[in-house]
Amino acid sequence: MSAAQQAAASHPAGSERAAQQTARSAEYAARASNVIPGGVNSPVRAFGSVGGTPRFFVRGSGATVTDADGTEYVDLVGAWGPALLGHAHPAVVAAVQEATGNGLGFGASVPGEFELAEEIIARMPDVERVRLVSTGTEATMTAIRIARGATSRPLIIKFAGHYHGHSDGLLAAAGSGLATFGLPGSAGVTAENAAQTLVLPYNDLAALEHAFQAHEGQIAAVITESAAANMGILPPDPGFTEGLIRTAHAHGALVITDEVLTGFRASAAGFWGIERETMPTGLAPDLFTFGKVVGGGLPLAAIGGRRDLMELLAPLGPVYQGGTLSGNPLAVAAGLATLRHADATVYERLAAAADALTVEVEDALTAAGVAHRVQRAGTLLSVLFGEYPVAPATYDDVLRQNTEQHRAFFHAMLAGGVNLPPSAFEAWFVSAAHDDRVIGQIAEALPAAARAAAAA
Ligand SMILES: Cc1ncc(COP(=O)(O)O)c(C=O)c1O
Repeated sequence: MSAAQQAAASHPAGSERAAQQTARSAEYAARASNVIPGGVNSPVRAFGSVGGTPRFFVRGSGATVTDADGTEYVDLVGAWGPALLGHAHPAVVAAVQEATGNGLGFGASVPGEFELAEEIIARMPDVERVRLVSTGTEATMTAIRIARGATSRPLIIKFAGHYHGHSDGLLAAAGSGLATFGLPGSAGVTAENAAQTLVLPYNDLAALEHAFQAHEGQIAAVITESAAANMGILPPDPGFTEGLIRTAHAHGALVITDEVLTGFRASAAGFWGIERETMPTGLAPDLFTFGKVVGGGLPLAAIGGRRDLMELLAPLGPVYQGGTLSGNPLAVAAGLATLRHADATVYERLAAAADALTVEVEDALTAAGVAHRVQRAGTLLSVLFGEYPVAPATYDDVLRQNTEQHRAFFHAMLAGGVNLPPSAFEAWFVSAAHDDRVIGQIAEALPAAARAAAAA
């Protein structure tokens, strides 16, 4: 029995017990709201779509996290992706501690930067050069700048429901926090800027061809999540990625595959690594973006791709990108330690955990009579509540899910000691620390959560 389950068993039922269990988090949330907009530094953390007290966490170890009130949860958020090996993996912690002792940064190059670039290139055969930045947002922003610099064209295509960070041109019909809060885009983006991004339905090659014909010679690049993972998991339909690359290239545009979330997680070589096996030789995206796992939990992300395109970056070429913290030695050390430890055994464990969890969730929801689909992309999964006789393919499909059921399910899981993403539009992240015992703990919490969803 987890700490949360023990606490639930030994206290009187009802809201008083819940309030006692979250008193410190509630106090912190109130204090944070006095000085930080919404009390959070990234919107989804606010529990806005599920309600209740957002937990403040003070510790993470392996597959568990502990909140400020001392309650321990099995974690399926994984820091939104980076915690591939589990929280506070000893090798990653040791690497960061060692780097810390050597100085926090020099504003000059450190050996770890090229070592990390070598590690990325070794896993990603279509990546010839790498530039390190600090966030996924910077990575996609820079990839787009390279594409515009290479093609001298202004327009970008993105797909509805895909999230590529919070730069101005990429916030239209974006997933993640915008989907969670039902926002079509962001205030503060100029009409001129928004007009440079064409938003198309995902998995629709006819719409893509039509857009290229309507804007002939104007489109610099198509940016796509390699498998959509910010509106829940929605992998590309068979043939979509190949058709996308062929269409873009036929019209002289580039393809940017965003692997910030899926990279080094969906498989050792990301979701592209899975799809590449099925592609004709030589057919590949031109640029990739990475984040999350590649930084091992510290602020680090990367752009990678064809040498001719990447060498358009300053100081070799005319496309500017720079950053005081780019390639920071602590972040590089965390990323390197994570990738070096993420061997075949780790990916086998992740796959086994995701498979077992899929079965447990399906069994519990089916037993409670809750219509649902468990969505998968490699080792990533998410749950869609609602009737989906046909697999969803677009953002519109996903938007009609039953978020009330998600909310009830989320809170029952939390009460049962499992920390799920507080949004129906986010992926569930397992780690190498999610062994059979941990999956068993999650399985114990599932029947009550499934019944709560059924009653919602
Ligand atoms: C696919 C994808 N691209 C880009 C980003 C932005 O990354 P960051 O939050 O590090 O700016 C995210 C973040 O979730 C993402 O999932």
